Amino acid sequence: MSEDKKKDIDQISGVETTGHSWDGLKELNNPLPRWWVWVFLVTIVWSGWYFVAYPAWPTLSGHTEGTKGYTQFKELQESQDEIRDRQQAYLERFNNATYEEILDDRELYAFAMAGGASAFKDNCATCHGTGAAGGKGYPNLIDDDWLWGGKLTDIHQTLLHGIRADNYDTRISQMPSFGKDKLLNRAEVEAVTDYVLSLSGTEPKDTFEQGQEIFRKNCATCHGEDGKGMHEFGAPNLTDAIWLYGGKRADVFESIYVARAGMMPAWGPRLDEPTIRQLTVYLHQLGGGESELDADLEEQEAPLPDEGQYKDAPLESPEYENPEEFETPIEEEDAASPE
Ligand code: HEC
Ligand code: HEC
Repeated sequence: MSEDKKKDIDQISGVETTGHSWDGLKELNNPLPRWWVWVFLVTIVWSGWYFVAYPAWPTLSGHTEGTKGYTQFKELQESQDEIRDRQQAYLERFNNATYEEILDDRELYAFAMAGGASAFKDNCATCHGTGAAGGKGYPNLIDDDWLWGGKLTDIHQTLLHGIRADNYDTRISQMPSFGKDKLLNRAEVEAVTDYVLSLSGTEPKDTFEQGQEIFRKNCATCHGEDGKGMHEFGAPNLTDAIWLYGGKRADVFESIYVARAGMMPAWGPRLDEPTIRQLTVYLHQLGGGESELDADLEEQEAPLPDEGQYKDAPLESPEYENPEEFETPIEEEDAASPE
């Protein structure tokens, strides 16, 4: 619009018009609000600075770097460093504290539980289930029924060296394959199966006495005269109706006929010591851990508080339905898998 054109002033508002007219309607040419103009100018200046300071322009080989040298990786790195620094403060105290001190100190306890929970999800949930309730062959870690002991020191030892794993300090024992290796004939295995079932409350059969005799001679060394199990041998309590390999008659028969030998890798070579300690505290709290002090109580046959209350954990994921088909990422020796 050229200057020499005569200015057209709207008669009602007294404001200049743009000169455009649509069916007699004219457009007023109000000036832009001042604040708006300022914001507009500031954003232009800001964008100029941004183009220089930050990576902005694509180039043939990538993009301009920007004078601030910003990258998202660097930002991630910095925030991770910050987290690590914050953890470091706890880690030092955690590493120097005894288990008792950790349980007494709210902060250290929370630190252990959080670290333990996340390490558990990463490393253990594949076998023991996300909720640690286990499945057939993989023990439930949230009840207070322990194969190898539920004291902090027991759990620590189990984690560090594994169970029937490939090292000298691993927890190890092997129940004989009574049927398969013909230590007992079939009728004897049947009798002792029914005897074992009667320990957790099923109706005793008329072979009870025979079964009991076989049990005393062949099984009590590991499972105890009373069948309540022994942590030294990882021999389960057979009286509590908690079954590692299933409590149906056929399952128990198979456990005795071929014998089981669950294996867990040693975590010492895979996880660092603080993580193992965090996991130890986490599991001890989850699973009604035993106190270091009541070691003598075991001898006194303290009844388990949950006797008969637990059933086998439901198999939550497809892997647990066929654990023998479930390939574990860890090399296992071909110890004694039921054929
Ligand atoms: C490859 C499968 C597998 C993985 C992974 C695994 N476990 Fe195990 N875990 C087992 C088996 C099988 C047993 C039982 C061994 C037996 O029969 O004595 C077991 C037993 C245990 C026990 C002993 C329970 C008791 O009653 O004494 C603890 C504690 C345990 N696991 C903790 C862990 C933790 C913590 C992790 C992760 C760092 C983990 N497990 C990862 C298979 C696994
Ligand atoms: C050398 C020690 C030892 C002897 C002897 C022994 N067992 Fe075992 N038994 C074990 C161990 C260890 C396990 C656990 C295996 C595992 O965790 O994989 C076990 C597991 C079992 C189970 C499975 C329990 C469950 O929760 O699923 C039954 C049943 C059983 N034994 C019965 C017997 C009977 C009956 C005898 C005698 C005829 C016997 N055992 C002799 C060590 C022994």
